[in-house]
Amino acid sequence: MNTVYLNGRYLPADEARISPFDRGFLFGDSVYEVIPYFRGTGFRLQEHIARLEHSLRAVRIRGDLDWVGILDQLVTLNGGGNLSVYLQVTRGDSGSRSHVYDADLEPTVFACCAPVRDFASIATEDVKGLVAIVTADLRWRRCDIKSTCLLPNILVVQQARDHQADEALLLRDGLVTEGTSSNVFVVRQGVIYTPKRSSEILGGITRELVLELADENGIQYQETDIDYEALMAGDEVWISSSTRGVLPVTVIDGHPVGDGEKGPLWARMFELLTRYQRKLMTGE
Ligand code: PDD
Repeated sequence: MNTVYLNGRYLPADEARISPFDRGFLFGDSVYEVIPYFRGTGFRLQEHIARLEHSLRAVRIRGDLDWVGILDQLVTLNGGGNLSVYLQVTRGDSGSRSHVYDADLEPTVFACCAPVRDFASIATEDVKGLVAIVTADLRWRRCDIKSTCLLPNILVVQQARDHQADEALLLRDGLVTEGTSSNVFVVRQGVIYTPKRSSEILGGITRELVLELADENGIQYQETDIDYEALMAGDEVWISSSTRGVLPVTVIDGHPVGDGEKGPLWARMFELLTRYQRKLMTGE
């Protein structure tokens, strides 16, 4: 599992070299995606690629490669199976440090794999309820762009760890936005609530899938503003991401969520996601 992709070549990770003048290194001038493959099949691959293209366009980094071809080949070279692929595209190597960039720079494209677990192999009862804290969202206001400028996310998730918590939920202008690397859902009386898609949150691929599965299965949901009180009054709170699926949060800021147990609607959604994933893996 140590073959990486760098600028058109597949090579061992310890042979990959990037210039110190790469703008991704100097400025975080780059965007990324994290795409899980389950049994060698990309999870919502087209949706991830569409989001990558959105990020690239939004920051005006060139990039019209055969993304699917690159990722599929990398997964194959790493043995297939369950892998999470990290793909980063930087504006490129400018040869010196300057805020101003040359529009003709050749982007640097890097991808690597890491193991990931499929939810289908995890029993509902083995999923652990997460502990979360709520803290200020210090990020810029273009969180719809999957930028590698993750310093606020890193500081805040560390703050959570310092409080023996698993995740930090972010609050901007009195409203919940998302987690440090996840989207947020609140359940109240059988209805799922989640913040509206906007430039304040990442349009999560699993967030969309959760809403799609809710729709298909007659579960009511609403995309709406959620303030701290509404979050704390939830019967259930969940987070979602493509690598972690949908996970229950059972403690927030030291208070139990609902009765402090994993909720029934979470268990239903976990089951629906698992079924979706199993179909993807078996091709049925
Ligand atoms: N992050 N919100 C943020 C800020 C995220 O970083 C992520 C995912 C999500 C969930 O998006 P998706 O469902 O498309 O995975 C929401 C990835 C996994 C990461 O940074 O590693």
